[in-house]
Amino acid sequence: MSDKNTKVNQDYVGKEVEFRVLRYDPDKDIAPYIQSFKLKLEHGMTVLDALMRIKETQDPSLSYRKSCRMGICGSCAMMVNGFPKLTCQTQVSEYDLDKTIDVRPLANYPILRDLVPDLRNFMRMHEGIKPYIIRRDNEELDKFIGEFAQSPEELERYLQFTYCIKCGACLAACPTNATDENFTGPQALAAAYRYVADSRDEGLEERLVALDEPNGIWRCHYAGACSEACPKGVDPSLGIQLLKREIFNHRLLGKKKRPAPFAETPEGVERREDIPQAPEKTVRE
Ligand code: FES
Repeated sequence: MSDKNTKVNQDYVGKEVEFRVLRYDPDKDIAPYIQSFKLKLEHGMTVLDALMRIKETQDPSLSYRKSCRMGICGSCAMMVNGFPKLTCQTQVSEYDLDKTIDVRPLANYPILRDLVPDLRNFMRMHEGIKPYIIRRDNEELDKFIGEFAQSPEELERYLQFTYCIKCGACLAACPTNATDENFTGPQALAAAYRYVADSRDEGLEERLVALDEPNGIWRCHYAGACSEACPKGVDPSLGIQLLKREIFNHRLLGKKKRPAPFAETPEGVERREDIPQAPEKTVRE
């Protein structure tokens, strides 16, 4: 799957373009169908702008999600010409305007209506990996003596995975999710790595319930489509491979309690020395 065939077109203002939009109202339609809309393009028009203009001027019943319109909330993700995109950040002029532009809801999700996917299972998977810092020593929480300090190197291990906006594009691109709706999915797995790789976290054992099971992490075949689709530059397939290594080491070495980074020593703050180096990114810049 790739959107590399797109081209930049500077003379698009006023050009009439045909949008082929998937429509589906479960209350009256037996199955989804495609409806055509013709629209004259305006300067800087995004795919989301085009949908909003269609709704304003041609069909007020057209349904889609949007909120921030600045690539932050993740709610406007849809399939544009077969590739998952944040439509508020996707210029119509990126595409070949002599051809139709196909807009559909994110693949691999049930459709609630028109371009609105049902993300409830996606959010359940995210919740299932316990997306928060887990510590085993309750006493240190009651009698804390300082901050959970982190070195820049420790932060670097997981930082890119915090950029996820949960738009769902990675799951729409994933070939495993296309055949297994119960697969934990790239978003939740990469989010799990975000916490497991955090030097303050000790929750891998608790997360194994969601990760190390038949529909969990080992179903990832490393296609890499999730990393190609992520609009925020996160590399979920890298996180998943690193998480596999963490689980493997955990199984071999057993439970390993991470020292509190703020432990007092005569030399000052104690640092972990065994920070593994991340392999090269799986996506070329
Ligand atoms: Fe928020 Fe597009 S509307 S990311």
